[in-house]
Amino acid sequence: MAFEDGVRDGDDGDELFESIDDSGGNNIFSRRELLDIDHVPDENRIVGRDEQIQDLAKELGPAVSGAPPNSVIIYGKTGSGKSLVTKHVMERARDEADRRGNRLATATVDCSQAKGEADTVQEIATQVNHPSTGVHIPSRGISANEYYNRLWDILNGFYDAAIITLDEVDRLSDDNVLMILSRARESGKIDVPIGIVAISNKINFREKMTERVKSSLGHHEFIFDPYDGTQLKEILANRQDAFEEGVLREGVIARAAAMAANKHGDARKAIRLLRHAGDYAENNGYEAVEETHLVQAQEQAEADRLKELISGLPPHTRYVLLALANLTNQQPDDWFRTTVVYDMYTAVCEKSSADPLSTDSIRGLLNELAFLEVIESNREHGGMGKGTYKEHRLLWEPEIVFRMDA
Ligand SMILES: Nc1ncnc2c1ncn2[C@@H]1O[C@H](COP(=O)(O)OP(=O)(O)OP(=O)(O)O)[C@@H](O)[C@H]1O
Ligand SMILES: [Mg+2]
Repeated sequence: MAFEDGVRDGDDGDELFESIDDSGGNNIFSRRELLDIDHVPDENRIVGRDEQIQDLAKELGPAVSGAPPNSVIIYGKTGSGKSLVTKHVMERARDEADRRGNRLATATVDCSQAKGEADTVQEIATQVNHPSTGVHIPSRGISANEYYNRLWDILNGFYDAAIITLDEVDRLSDDNVLMILSRARESGKIDVPIGIVAISNKINFREKMTERVKSSLGHHEFIFDPYDGTQLKEILANRQDAFEEGVLREGVIARAAAMAANKHGDARKAIRLLRHAGDYAENNGYEAVEETHLVQAQEQAEADRLKELISGLPPHTRYVLLALANLTNQQPDDWFRTTVVYDMYTAVCEKSSADPLSTDSIRGLLNELAFLEVIESNREHGGMGKGTYKEHRLLWEPEIVFRMDA
């Protein structure tokens, strides 16, 4: 239909929104959400983990019939599919239990976000709770003990079995939760069998667990190897419908897979690279995603990763990292003593109008960063009678740290 002067004709659309197509995007992506990091791919998009899915299902399987599942520890580098596979198997177990008329409770806690024992139990209780239990789980204000009691009430009253996943379990402040959950039945707290899935990307975590936890978790361990280039390629190829047809130039997926395989075999990184390359193409008005866009995407993908790694740490961690990045910029690849880092840190704080924390707090943050492998710390001897001191080195490119902060 025609409009009067000054009003655009309906068929042409408003040029202000010209770049937005009917799928809500523009000409690069058609379903960008497929490349979201939290996106859980459906079963037929999980690549190369059949064996791990089978193995895990075998250990947890008895729970679908209300019998005791085995507890499991899963190790593997970041982005190797540990959380994904576990989530997938738990969901299928719950559906299968449903089908058989059994009530299976499932809960997953990201221990890097939970702050302590009470928080962790609160989170589990909240996830397995539902309105008809009549049990109230307040978000705060009751003791860890009381949270446990309410959790037992819910499990005893409304479930036949439970599977509880403690993801990033090495970040748990103490192993009490692991102990109490894994021994709840044995100690007479509940009559419902519980299986624990403990996930860690620190291969030496097992050595750090106390004997009592090891013996209560049992000896079922799985190791997830990093993905190779072929698997990463398949993972990405399975999601190419995130893009409009014909937009991905040939070779982009292979190159993204190779770039990610080359570094760590990390699926998350591969997906991120592809998404940022798409964003780059889109933001710069290209009609297609080219291999060169991946190079542009790489820094952003790494900055995202770094941000994610430190997201569970206090805000001042950023200032500490900035301090180390500044120092590293001046003297590449060098090691810096805690006192030197601290001086630079106070300068960074001053610039950001923040009050610096104490040296002890900064030592703690440096330890955390070393644990996450963002930095490396060494203990050095100052020589006769001078005691020891620590030196630190940034394991990431300073540019990535600056970029994260931009
Ligand atoms: N086999 C796979 N098939 C398809 N997509 C995968 C596969 N493995 C991983 N991914 C994708 O990569 C993302 C990261 O995987 P996941 O969260 O399972 O890693 P992780 O091993 O738990 O790593 P982290 O130790 O860092 O937590 C997933 O959200 C998923 O999108
Ligand atoms: Mg994970």
